[in-house]
Amino acid sequence: MSKTPKNQLDRKSQAWSALFSEPMSDLVKRYTASVFFDKRLWRADIAGSLAHADMLAKQGIISTQDHAAIEKGLAQVAQEIDSGKFEWKLDLEDVHLNIEARLTQLAGDAGKRLHTGRSRNDQVATDVRLWLRDEIDLILALLGDLQRALLGLAERNADVIMPGFTHLQVAQPVSFGHHMLAYVEMFGRDAERMTDVRRRVNRLPLGAAALAGTSYPLDREQVAGALGMEGVCQNSIDAVSDRDFAIEFAAAASLAMIHISRLSEELVLWMSQSFGFIDIADRFCTGSSIMPQKKNPDVPELARGKTGRVVGHLMGLITLMKGQPLAYNKDNQEDKEPLFDTVDTLKDTLRIFAEMAEGITVRADAMEKAALRGYATATDLADYLVKKGLAFRDAHETVAHAVKAAMSHQVDLSELPLAVLKQFNSVIEKDVYDVLSLRGSLDARDILGGTAPAQVRSQIARHRARLG
Ligand code: ARG
Repeated sequence: MSKTPKNQLDRKSQAWSALFSEPMSDLVKRYTASVFFDKRLWRADIAGSLAHADMLAKQGIISTQDHAAIEKGLAQVAQEIDSGKFEWKLDLEDVHLNIEARLTQLAGDAGKRLHTGRSRNDQVATDVRLWLRDEIDLILALLGDLQRALLGLAERNADVIMPGFTHLQVAQPVSFGHHMLAYVEMFGRDAERMTDVRRRVNRLPLGAAALAGTSYPLDREQVAGALGMEGVCQNSIDAVSDRDFAIEFAAAASLAMIHISRLSEELVLWMSQSFGFIDIADRFCTGSSIMPQKKNPDVPELARGKTGRVVGHLMGLITLMKGQPLAYNKDNQEDKEPLFDTVDTLKDTLRIFAEMAEGITVRADAMEKAALRGYATATDLADYLVKKGLAFRDAHETVAHAVKAAMSHQVDLSELPLAVLKQFNSVIEKDVYDVLSLRGSLDARDILGGTAPAQVRSQIARHRARLG
């Protein structure tokens, strides 16, 4: 290797080659640098470099002495970064060049050999994938925690009756536990999606080099195995230019946030004076600086707002790819901030919701009262008539008359005397009151996926077994 100036990587204007006749302008330096956000990839960058160096030595591309010097140097770099002593330099553009420059200071020529058969194009793609894979694992754990917390809330309230809504109009009574289990299903699917995305994230670009592969006899499979990856990217051009994995992740994260946002909207409504269905523990709420009586559900409101931010990142990432010719383009540097913020926002939100679920108090009496207000058992009366031989459409019409009568007397269907009910159809007997009660309506829906508390409990058991 030819002798290069010692400070070569310290002076970025000369880092590329002698071809450049003037230094980069300060404005351009600041515009193009990514170090102040991509430095958070440092652990992945060092892990990737260690696996690459190890393979270079095994393949006889670098000497064992150089390998040892690289390992020692990178251990020190890691220690310096971890302890906050590392000096990140804007002049060195990004996390990769910063680490490599410091390694070269520490390990001399061995440091300069680390980049053999590698480009920052396959290096950065590898780093982002490694980092994201580990973040997905944390997100999966948090999704598990949230599901478990919601299962607890569902179990404590399996017998609590609330009005189920369609069009936000009282529709049929449901168990509050059943309603919570709907969210467990959503977050369960989010976890499935994350697991699926992880498979495509966890593939190795290294070996693609700049875009065409490399003439060194690299053992890519070995590096993939050492990094715990599920395989190597099979086309070098795709390996350095693909960011589908980041987009899919952002899409899965957006959907998880959408679920959080729907739950948030319900919590906000339920905590309002008009509903009065729940209370959220004080530690998750704030007051007003002017209205002393106020207690606001800030956490769900903010989560609903942050959903917009994550969906925005998805739009940013997907638009970033549009119109990019193959292979690597500097545009891709713009993948990091949205990706990082998506991960941070989702993790914080999942964590806080799992905690908040423990702090939700359910006002069973208010829910039940609301369920009584909307003739929620009308369908049950129709079903009763069908079981007595009426066609469903006729039963539907009969019940409409009964509801009209109850409305005019301002009473619930269950409060109409038998003599009055019989006027609508003589098949109606005393046993009708079993189905007209909210409890009777709930218990009757004892079908797989239905709201009967017995079904709710068996679903809770199924989810618990699934979550382990
Ligand atoms: N900072 C760059 C990024 O985030 C690293 C790769 C740069 N490669 C290049 N050829 N300029 O994408």
